Amino acid sequence: MKARNGTESARPYEPEKNPAIRRLTAGAIKRRKGKTPFPIATAYDAPFGQFVEAAGIDVILVGDSVGNVVLGYDETTPVTTENIIYHSQAVARGTTRAHIMADMPFGSYQVSDEDALRAAIRFVKEGGACSVKLEGGRDQAQRIRAITAAGIPVVGHIGVTPQTAGLGPGFKMRTHRDRLIDDARSVEAAGAYAIVLEVVDFEISREITELLSIPTIGIGSGPHCDAQVLVLHDILGMYPHSPPFAKRYAEVGNIATAALTRFAQEVRDGVFPGVGERAGVKVL
Ligand code: KIV
Repeated sequence: MKARNGTESARPYEPEKNPAIRRLTAGAIKRRKGKTPFPIATAYDAPFGQFVEAAGIDVILVGDSVGNVVLGYDETTPVTTENIIYHSQAVARGTTRAHIMADMPFGSYQVSDEDALRAAIRFVKEGGACSVKLEGGRDQAQRIRAITAAGIPVVGHIGVTPQTAGLGPGFKMRTHRDRLIDDARSVEAAGAYAIVLEVVDFEISREITELLSIPTIGIGSGPHCDAQVLVLHDILGMYPHSPPFAKRYAEVGNIATAALTRFAQEVRDGVFPGVGERAGVKVL
């Protein structure tokens, strides 16, 4: 990667030219079942991908939450295949080892197996993704089968499924035990290597985690899951509407506003650029 002034940065990254780069595989993630709980964070661009990886988080979800936290939509429904490819490419350029999981957006997999497989192939070939995630339980088992049959690892997602939650069932905690267990079993039987449980009753999450042989990835589903995922902008305090189950570990939004306010004031006051900044500029 080149620095903005044209010099080489400390951390060159050219994935397509560096065969030594090996990303964490879906198989390795699956083998974490029942071991120490592991963290997953979303990321949508190169620098934040780098920060996530530097924090020792080796699974990155390029979530369709990009619609809310980056693109300014109120929901995930408008997110496109192109959006996910674009953001996944950026994360791939900024990271070397992390497993990149691309979220299949609404409309990219519901119509047919062929559509779903075509989109999944694009996430891998063009987006640099290592696996894909799609929302749905028993109703999406056939799609999971079709994609895994082509060699692309799939993560399922049950409980609250935000792409369609706004169209009917809403975002309240899911408590229908038999339905949730049936969905989880169907997703596993269809070949998924992991499954997201979003806002599922904590005891049902525990039961599903014990029943399945693939890792459960919890979000708002309590402490018993094999992994926990959060949206980057919630972890860092860069989004005003964090859900109640998310923990904000910093208030980066406030830090950014304070820094920008100081910059603006220094320009208005004629303080920036100061002597130091002027000295650093090359005379062409
Ligand atoms: O899009 C996303 O970030 C997600 C997580 C909330 C699991 O699907």
